[in-house]
Amino acid sequence: IDQLLAAGVAGKRVFVRADLNVPLDGTTITDDGRIRAVAPTVARLAAAGARVIVASHLGRPQGAPDPAFSLAPAARRLGELLGTDVAFATDTVGDSARAVVASLADGQVAVVENLRFNPGETSKDDAERGAFADRLASLADLYVGDGFGAVHRKHASVYDLPARLPHAAGELIATEVGVLKQLTDDVRRPYTVVLGGAKVSDKLGVIDHLLEKADRILIGGGMAYTFLKAQGHEVGISLLQEEQVPTVQGYLERARERGVELVLPVDVLVSPAFPDLRTKAPAHPTTVSADAIPADQEGLDIGPESRKLFASKIADSATVFWNGPMGVFEHPDFAEGTKAVAQALVDSPAFTVVGGGDSAAAVRILGFDENAFGHISTGGGASLEYLEGKTLPGLAALED
Ligand code: 3PG
Repeated sequence: IDQLLAAGVAGKRVFVRADLNVPLDGTTITDDGRIRAVAPTVARLAAAGARVIVASHLGRPQGAPDPAFSLAPAARRLGELLGTDVAFATDTVGDSARAVVASLADGQVAVVENLRFNPGETSKDDAERGAFADRLASLADLYVGDGFGAVHRKHASVYDLPARLPHAAGELIATEVGVLKQLTDDVRRPYTVVLGGAKVSDKLGVIDHLLEKADRILIGGGMAYTFLKAQGHEVGISLLQEEQVPTVQGYLERARERGVELVLPVDVLVSPAFPDLRTKAPAHPTTVSADAIPADQEGLDIGPESRKLFASKIADSATVFWNGPMGVFEHPDFAEGTKAVAQALVDSPAFTVVGGGDSAAAVRILGFDENAFGHISTGGGASLEYLEGKTLPGLAALED
């Protein structure tokens, strides 16, 4: 972006592909981290006299307008953060977008409606995506890619559009890639990775890769139960991906062979039913040993001994990467595991990176100071795929 600014952007229409995919409760944004993260790029472009068009996806609408996924709340919040009026187009490339862009003065900012209201954005068909990218390109003179959270998606605005306009990476992408490079190229050891979240199937690629890179992998969250099962334990009615058990057994074996310490919970909090996240009614969980989960109970968080164990491993690290909550942190009875891991990162002398999505939202929702971490990524899937060593379409498109 420095080169773009040096070449001069005054009076130019600059399309900024952001990731404003923030969690919403109705129209209330529950975590605005991603909007705050892209605001500096937008502010710099506007200050340099560009006419800034910010575009993003939100959620997964089915290629048609759906008010539940409108970007209007995110546009309002961006305006508050920038301290300026931000215009909002009620479509992405239609009459409203064209009129809003045409009315922008130098230094003004507009947000266009959710890119995924258009089937071309996510289409697997190159021609359909290309046709949509052509329409997006007609709105702008220059392109800035700064939606790090979406760079792993081969979508029109991420992958096809930069090929159609002079382009640059924004500040957020530059920062994110700089940090993740430290984890892949020259990591300080011991390197501990903490993985959680619901499904082990989302993490297979990264576990596979990290078995070659990390010194320790700590496993919590819903995915831990597939690991416990692979070790031969019964997991009651806990989340289990039975079909992944053989793969996970292979990981356990490889970890042993390679001397990678694979740490599983030693105790868990169980309850006979999934808690009510709306009323947050007390769930009265019980603590049980991880090898003795009763048949009629569901594991919903790591237990107190596991919290201590995980914290001690995190304390004794030079680098920590954490992705995925340890339990159903949205309910106070099952938030302690996630809190303990977040606190351990804060207390650790290690360089700590929180890998996006739920874990980034969790640390903020649970009240942690984000400055207490080395880096909080805005990318969930994107940061995992980067660590896997995959080519990310949205980064490749910005490279030339
Ligand atoms: C994310 O939340 O990880 C990004 O915004 C990408 O969203 P997606 O998984 O719906 O493509």
